Amino acid sequence: MAKGLTNLRQLDQPQFHQFCGLIYKTTGIHVSENRMTLLSNRIRRRLQEGQSFEDYFKLITSPQGSDEAQRFIDAITTNETFFFRTDAHFEWLRTQYLTEVVSAALRGKRQRSLRIWSAGCATGAEPYSIAICLLENRARLRDWDLKVVGTDISEHALEEARIGSFRARAVEAVSQGRFRRFFEEPDEDQRWQVTSEVKDLVELRPHNLLTPMADGPFDCVFIRNVLIYFDKASKQIAIRNLIDALAPGGYLVVGPSEGIYNMLEPLERVKPFLYQKPLTT
Ligand SMILES: C[S@@+](CC[C@H](N)C(=O)[O-])C[C@H]1O[C@@H](n2cnc3c(N)ncnc32)[C@H](O)[C@@H]1O
Repeated sequence: MAKGLTNLRQLDQPQFHQFCGLIYKTTGIHVSENRMTLLSNRIRRRLQEGQSFEDYFKLITSPQGSDEAQRFIDAITTNETFFFRTDAHFEWLRTQYLTEVVSAALRGKRQRSLRIWSAGCATGAEPYSIAICLLENRARLRDWDLKVVGTDISEHALEEARIGSFRARAVEAVSQGRFRRFFEEPDEDQRWQVTSEVKDLVELRPHNLLTPMADGPFDCVFIRNVLIYFDKASKQIAIRNLIDALAPGGYLVVGPSEGIYNMLEPLERVKPFLYQKPLTT
């Protein structure tokens, strides 16, 4: 085949399975058979002129290809997110949850500190929405040590999250009052930037959900719209790591499409989207 035509090709079946195996092993994501064109297109954008799919696979599985292997992960993950996605979860956080922890602290039953983990945070709308909920309760959280940790396997998504600037689509559910308090005026590209007050509460770093989270325990963990493409075996590994990272009595907030409701033992179901770790396990 002429060199210039190489890049027009689709993955063939064995190549597709080879890449799917690598994606599964690295991320837990199960790519279904009907995604062959999508995957071919995403990989093709990473190919250098004249580089074949085989060359590319060899590169990203070799020690000298580790930077490109990360860009490959960036290219194949779906980082779609927006502020206050499934608002009932944030409503619970802002009202019932904060009331519960503040009252426990007043009774001397807990420290004045709160650590919340947004697992699979993509470009940051989720951890920043959580930070906004905390700032809206600043008066009753005065003197509290607050931290929101956002993690993702995609370095590119995390770079975007660190910038903290969002297109109109990602902020559609933000109220006028919140725009005024927690966002700068949009720039000439019509991107909305979260204020430094919001950014300062959020720490962003890489983490693969297939590995234990070293930096626990967390009082509350959000896992939403992440495990949807994992198969049962990789869901179970990720869930074990999430539960291990929860403090006793901590809460897991589960997205509507995660498909993990029958895998959450020993957590206790509090609401359809909310599970609590017993005080003793
Ligand atoms: C669709 S976004 C969801 C973002 C946010 N949680 C929300 O609900 O809006 C899914 C994110 O999960 C991340 N992800 C996929 N596999 C992962 C893994 N094994 N470890 C950590 N993050 C992963 C992707 O990179 C992507 O940014």
